[in-house]
Amino acid sequence: MKTITLTQAALNRGSLLLVNARHPLPECVAPERLTPFLDSGILLERRTALVLENLFKALGCASSLLPVSGYRTLTEQKQIYASSLAENGADFTGKYVALPDCSEHQTGLAIDLSLNQQPVDFIRPFFPRDGICEQFREKMISYGFVERYPEDREGITGIAAEPWHFRYVGTPHAAIMKLHNLCLEEYIDYLSLFPSVGKHLEISILNKSFEIFYQKTDPQDGSVTLTLPSSLPFQVSGTNTGGCIVTLWK
Ligand code: DAL
Ligand code: ZN
Repeated sequence: MKTITLTQAALNRGSLLLVNARHPLPECVAPERLTPFLDSGILLERRTALVLENLFKALGCASSLLPVSGYRTLTEQKQIYASSLAENGADFTGKYVALPDCSEHQTGLAIDLSLNQQPVDFIRPFFPRDGICEQFREKMISYGFVERYPEDREGITGIAAEPWHFRYVGTPHAAIMKLHNLCLEEYIDYLSLFPSVGKHLEISILNKSFEIFYQKTDPQDGSVTLTLPSSLPFQVSGTNTGGCIVTLWK
């Protein structure tokens, strides 16, 4: 076994970070963690960009799908929010634009995609449920992406259905979320039922076996100390809910 300690700063990131109106962004993303996605001029968190590039290559969809919005700074989110308020009103804006500092676009883990046809709607891109768009939705799961704002979870996510907004949560998490039909808020609640000191989630999915558990962070300094098997690859992601999720590849 090995013991590792992660600071609060290290846990202010990760593919399972929850950002919504009740869980504002804990810390701005460092510029070196971002990279351009293909030649779109849009920035994404490095791993998100790499995995999405692989997904685009596998689908051969670089000319048929258009990246519309990826990483946004706080200033950009403020501008989008203000201009939508002015143009579309409070009701529409509350449904489709997250409050500044409550947008997961500020994590670099989210991307809005449009079918490549004019005109492109910046706030509500066209991403229908057929053709290449639906092929993208089918394939994205094994690459670690989810449709973040499903139609029937508005009461939980606080955002109306956004069939164009995809979020990198990593593998195997996208596949487990799909299997149990959970949005990210629900998934983190679900994983918190598997605490480090209790029974862990053991699951075989995507032809691999995983052990997953939730560890609360120290209420004083936000750190965690984990004791993990030396031989297994693992990943730790902050959740922005006072804990972190540990994933072990078995
Ligand atoms: N459209 C999503 C909710 C955002 O503004 O982050
Ligand atoms: Zn979006």
